[in-house]
Amino acid sequence: MMPDALSALREEFPLLETGTTFLDWAATGLLPRVSRSAVEEYLRQIVDCPTAESTWMHGVHGQTRQRVRVLTAGLLGGTASASDVALVESTTAGLNIATSVLPAESGDNVVLSAIDYLAVAMPWKRRADREGLKLRFVPAPEGRLRARDLLASADARTRAIAVSTAAWTTGALLDAAVLAEGARKRGIPLILDAVQTFGVVPLDVGAIPTSFLCVGGHKWLCSPLGAGFLYVSREAAERRLPDQIGFLAGQPERGTWPQFFESPDASPAAKVRFPPAGRSFEVGGTANYPGALGLLGMLRLLSQAGVAELHEHVLDLGDHLIDGLKALGHRVVTPTAREERAGIVVFQTGAGVGAEQDLVLRLRERRIVGSVRYTSGQGGVRISLHGMNTMADVETLLRQLGAP
Ligand SMILES: Cc1ncc(COP(=O)(O)O)c(C=O)c1O
Repeated sequence: MMPDALSALREEFPLLETGTTFLDWAATGLLPRVSRSAVEEYLRQIVDCPTAESTWMHGVHGQTRQRVRVLTAGLLGGTASASDVALVESTTAGLNIATSVLPAESGDNVVLSAIDYLAVAMPWKRRADREGLKLRFVPAPEGRLRARDLLASADARTRAIAVSTAAWTTGALLDAAVLAEGARKRGIPLILDAVQTFGVVPLDVGAIPTSFLCVGGHKWLCSPLGAGFLYVSREAAERRLPDQIGFLAGQPERGTWPQFFESPDASPAAKVRFPPAGRSFEVGGTANYPGALGLLGMLRLLSQAGVAELHEHVLDLGDHLIDGLKALGHRVVTPTAREERAGIVVFQTGAGVGAEQDLVLRLRERRIVGSVRYTSGQGGVRISLHGMNTMADVETLLRQLGAP
């Protein structure tokens, strides 16, 4: 039985009530009703200009963005607060900003996983080419992201470990607390890409003391595309702010921004203060307000439903799916132990990738949505299960795969 809070959450996604079995949150999520209404209202307002002046939206949606930071901090746990959170465009934007502030020189190294998403490695590859850094891609022959393997590759010249909290093509969950503690003890900054777990696996930055955590909103957070966040620990923010500057993240020396712009004293040479905190890592200008409204909607829904309860439900769905896939003779790529997976379950049919692509197309014709994903030879048919999914969704998939 689905807990009541999750039934209410499911009702926010009309597609799920119209015969589509949506199992592709790891690719791109769906927008909940509450966010759709908020974005529609926003569109109506920028068409109609509801006040006598035209910059109202900066004030109103500056507050929207602050609410997003507050709710995000609540889900980050520990002592995280809104000022530790920068709203950025995407996971990739967060990864780039985090990479840019860490000191490293020729001959130093960075530890990465050989099965990670390319966006995690790319900013480091650029720096490696320009600055002579060495990249250590830690092999993951069984598709697992293991703290002990990553830590074993680090040494006195390691300047960062950058890795995802779940492997995007195998669904294996990183033992992030072990990694973060190990990195902290050795004084190595940790950059976590949590786009595949935030919103479906509970998080506590108190227990996982990472320097940076990067999340795009368009997957498990069901926001419009192009809205995400970067969490920065206070220690990391105090060490160095980015070279790029977003003026709205700062505070004018006197008064507020509206007062500044109306003041004859305003000048490009005016002093703007940037507190040494995550918020100062917002390097854009006028921001993605529809994206913030979408994030706000889902963050509220998640806070009401409770991510811990949602996670247990998703693991139950995963158990059932894994049992069913095994009974059908498929090879389950994702670890079967509950503590080693998030919402992604990956399997191989044994008939090769071409047959897996055909299978996914056939499933889509029957309105069952999943994907095929591979990296470094690891992957298969990727099914992703969110709190909005039900056992009936899993049954529908298994029946189409041939279960009685
Ligand atoms: C692990 C991981 N990191 C990063 C990304 C890219 O995210 P974004 O588009 O938010 O930069 C993806 C997208 O699939 C991903 O799976």
